[in-house]
Amino acid sequence: MTKHLLKLSDLSKTDFEVFFERAMELKRRQKQGTANRSLVGKTFGLLFDKPSTRTRASFEAAMVQLGGTPLFISSKDTQISRAEPIKDTARVLSRYFDGLAIRTFSQDIIDEFARFATIPIINALTDPYHPCQVLSDLLTILQFKKTYEKLKIAWVGDGNNMAHSWINAAAVLGLNLVLACPEEYFPNKIIVDEAIKKNPDKIKVTTDPVEAVREADVVNTDVWASMGQESEQDARRGVFEPFQVNSKLLAEAAKDAIVMHCLPAHRGEEITEDVLEGPNSVVWDQSENKLHMHKAIIEILLTS
Ligand code: CP
Ligand code: NVA
Repeated sequence: MTKHLLKLSDLSKTDFEVFFERAMELKRRQKQGTANRSLVGKTFGLLFDKPSTRTRASFEAAMVQLGGTPLFISSKDTQISRAEPIKDTARVLSRYFDGLAIRTFSQDIIDEFARFATIPIINALTDPYHPCQVLSDLLTILQFKKTYEKLKIAWVGDGNNMAHSWINAAAVLGLNLVLACPEEYFPNKIIVDEAIKKNPDKIKVTTDPVEAVREADVVNTDVWASMGQESEQDARRGVFEPFQVNSKLLAEAAKDAIVMHCLPAHRGEEITEDVLEGPNSVVWDQSENKLHMHKAIIEILLTS
């Protein structure tokens, strides 16, 4: 098991399976009301540079439920905002915490934290990746479909951080993943090419949302403008319109397809209200599974 969780391409298939198994076990125990106090005495920091509802709340709840203590820090209230070097911050916070989740902009920042920290560093979203989200989304697929093998997974919309983490996961797990994005918003070519090298036949990027969604078992989308891209929102709206997940597009998918969105959703943009609230949508279970997966992640990384 890796010491840090920075991006999914760093994990082996066994690492993924260890996370899934532990998350399922912790979920079972929570539903049965059996307490699991594996992190008593541990302190977990959350250093966030961007807003968050789910990731912050589920990591904090996960830590409390496992008997440990979470400590949230908004980066803008720290000396980082006054140019204290990352390498100094990383070494100082390592003296206080047993693990640290970071939500920030560039991957370089989190990589630098990982280089200098002596505690596990967990990527809670960066511009190019959202690994913990895709781990918990795979848990949701396992919940509804029992397996991720032999499924067709569609990604419709922006070739963003979520898309990149799906591509990373597809390479390691051998997933059948078809992404439909406007050409100017294709996922990063280096990330796609590396993944295709590992999983040559089952990862595809197209500009045709119907091709991606046709007979798909899982239909996944995300906002058209991510955090930090707010100024591009209006310009993007026009380009992305044909990539809306609506009932017409969903009719192309398998009848029992599940619709996923990591949230927050912009109803009427990347997804329509009727699809988000409709019978195929699993978004609330998807949000819940962040709690169970985050428990598995912190328990495994903070105790190994
Ligand atoms: N899905 C997700 O990461 O949500 P938050 O931005 O609310 O954490
Ligand atoms: N792609 C989105 C995900 C939010 C959870 C963003 O980065 O804003």
